[in-house]
Amino acid sequence: MRNVVAPALLLLLPLAASPARAALDPAVKCTAVKLGGAGKAGLANALCTMKASLAGLPTDAACLAKADVRLGAVFAGAEKPGSCVANGNAGGVATVLDAVTGFAEIQLGDDGSAAGRKCAAARRKALGKLVSDALGCQSKGALKGSSSQEIAICRYGAISKSNAAFEKSAAAGGCATGADANTTATFVVDLVDSVATAVATTPASPTPTPVPTPTPGPVGFASDVQPIFTSRCTSCHGSVSPSGSLSLVAGSARANLVDVNSTECTSTKRVAPSNADASYLVHKIEGTGPCYVGSRMPLGGPFLSASDVAKIRSWIDQGALDN
Ligand code: HEC
Repeated sequence: MRNVVAPALLLLLPLAASPARAALDPAVKCTAVKLGGAGKAGLANALCTMKASLAGLPTDAACLAKADVRLGAVFAGAEKPGSCVANGNAGGVATVLDAVTGFAEIQLGDDGSAAGRKCAAARRKALGKLVSDALGCQSKGALKGSSSQEIAICRYGAISKSNAAFEKSAAAGGCATGADANTTATFVVDLVDSVATAVATTPASPTPTPVPTPTPGPVGFASDVQPIFTSRCTSCHGSVSPSGSLSLVAGSARANLVDVNSTECTSTKRVAPSNADASYLVHKIEGTGPCYVGSRMPLGGPFLSASDVAKIRSWIDQGALDN
């Protein structure tokens, strides 16, 4: 694990002199605006999960979608012609920030009790503030031309605040076992790196969501579909207390899917035979659908390749057979 908290060392080292402040480069300003906007969006995602734990409900998809829309607007505003090192990357950054939602849901969960939900809510909020503050350090550091050490000191302050919030919630009691303050800080430090990379990357194609191409020929459940579940899904959707009350282990996956109502969106079948478009399983792996809720699967990514999505779609459209 990366050592994120080394205050004594940081304070002993002399501060490297910041480079003299030149007229603000538009590319630097664009990066700073995007990093700040990403921090706000990460906070917004975490607050959506906070509200969900307070209400004892799954995270509201509309709440998450709103955060993405705002992020898109901030990025679009920053991308004046010729001003940014990379353009069109709001979607890529939003995908990186989905990890905040995933981390909150999986690592900062609760046991369903009132005290447990309160603790989870407090920790999810602390996570969001840390994401926002840490990216804020990065953003302000870019504007001021700070050294990486000055940025690290700023981030250390943010981590201290988050640690204090974790301690306070532990003192209040009811916290389920999950990520501690240090694991959360490590996650956020890595996330900041990933966001910085995404902000500097121009996507290969302006539409990052690949349109699945249907696989020609018959698709076998046992030979084509179950292996995808086994390698990519059963770590969470196993036989013992599976996520979403859905086990995808070999032998029971098909029976748990075909003609079974989704738990998240009870008006939709997980798999509606011969109708991939109306199947909640497809909505979850594509991250979109009429009553899609929660996160895109596999949670936290990387998501399924277009060809795996196409296999699952074809298997359903061919009747969702036990073949
Ligand atoms: C890291 C853990 C994790 C992995 C891996 C994962 N899931 Fe999930 N899944 C969840 C959680 C947590 C939920 C409930 C919260 C949500 O939907 O965001 C869920 C919910 C679902 C649901 C909704 C169930 C219902 O009845 O409403 C489907 C469908 C689903 N997952 C399919 C998949 C598939 C298919 C894969 C593999 C390609 C996969 N998941 C991989 C954690 C995971």
